[in-house]
Amino acid sequence: MTFDPAAIRAEFPILRRQVNGHPLVYLDNAASAQKPRAVIEAMARVMEGSYANVHRGLHTLANETTDAYEAARSSVARFVGAAPEEIVFTKGGTEAVNLVAAGLAADIQPGDEIVLSQMEHHANIVPWHFLRERQGAVLRFAKVTDDGRLDLDHLKSLIGARTRVVAISHMSNVLGTINPAAEIVRIAREAGALVLLDGCQAIVHQPVDVKALDVDFYVFSGHKLYGPTGIGALYGKAGRLAGLRPYQGGGEMIGTVSEEVITYADPPHRFEAGTPPIIEAIGLGAAIDWLAGQDREAIAAHEAGLYARVRDKLNGANWLRVLGEAPGKGAILSFTVEGAHAHDVAQILDRYGVAVRAGTHCAEPLMARYGVTSSARASFALYNTEDEADRFVEALVKTQAFFA
Ligand SMILES: Cc1ncc(COP(=O)(O)O)c(C=O)c1O
Repeated sequence: MTFDPAAIRAEFPILRRQVNGHPLVYLDNAASAQKPRAVIEAMARVMEGSYANVHRGLHTLANETTDAYEAARSSVARFVGAAPEEIVFTKGGTEAVNLVAAGLAADIQPGDEIVLSQMEHHANIVPWHFLRERQGAVLRFAKVTDDGRLDLDHLKSLIGARTRVVAISHMSNVLGTINPAAEIVRIAREAGALVLLDGCQAIVHQPVDVKALDVDFYVFSGHKLYGPTGIGALYGKAGRLAGLRPYQGGGEMIGTVSEEVITYADPPHRFEAGTPPIIEAIGLGAAIDWLAGQDREAIAAHEAGLYARVRDKLNGANWLRVLGEAPGKGAILSFTVEGAHAHDVAQILDRYGVAVRAGTHCAEPLMARYGVTSSARASFALYNTEDEADRFVEALVKTQAFFA
């Protein structure tokens, strides 16, 4: 297996685009990544060749599409080391966390505690706030250190007899910090708590084996993983999925329905009410099969090299504040520029064809932790090049000059 960024780029049609008279430098990958031809073609293929609704048909097209949909589930399962029955398709990472929180709600008593961290995305905060508002759960937030690490001592001090769930990001979408999953699981298990890892960012950049991690739930989205929007996945240990109340009711998630009673289908279908995102699931399967065929170690080294290159070039910039300098962090650079609002920074970078994100990154508690209201964020993917890293730095230096 080899990894050649130039050859990879050629597989992503959109990367040939010009933006504002410049070649596109796409560094908004942590928000959503671009799609390789393998994904675009797999989705077009099903629409052109065999599309029908799944699981309910008795004709050839329905059977073909059902097979493709379930094959996508098997691809996802293989990718994370799970069994297909342990993979629920959702519309994204957000819906996957909501499904777990809603599924546990009836078992949460007033005073039960949910432990999160200050670096969570709102997707892994707000569903738990629902349990606070509606069930009287207590939320506890593990602190983040100045350099962007999870404060493990503080985390340990928060977990106790009332802890029901520990829900923490595997990799921060703002800081790039990769959290010590094994240690988090160990601490949570000692207290008998369930563990959910938000893998929306981590799974893009590193192999994930849910059995080795021994988590109860692992969630991620398709659109950050070079797949389409409208699709994500929830891994749940077989016994844990069976213990969740169904999230939504409707067709396909039932055993039988009468005027008096209902029975439920087994997981994962119990959690996939109605017509699922069929084409999107097949697209996610294609993205995963495509990524699994790449040299992921080489990709990780490439992305780390891009981050180190940018960080080195910006080392002397006294107008720059970087949020998150944890050792071993992933290739996400969140920053503020002295005297400039992050939105203005992003808009000026766009004039040079450089796409970055700016705002709170759906992580307001983390923004508050660092005493900022927003930041800009450049996030790297496997198709970014050293030349693009240099063009980003040049454009950022020119941008800063507007505010000096
Ligand atoms: C760490 C993290 N968790 C959850 C989400 C939400 O995922 P989705 O957009 O698939 O709902 C994101 C997306 O930005 C994220 O970065």
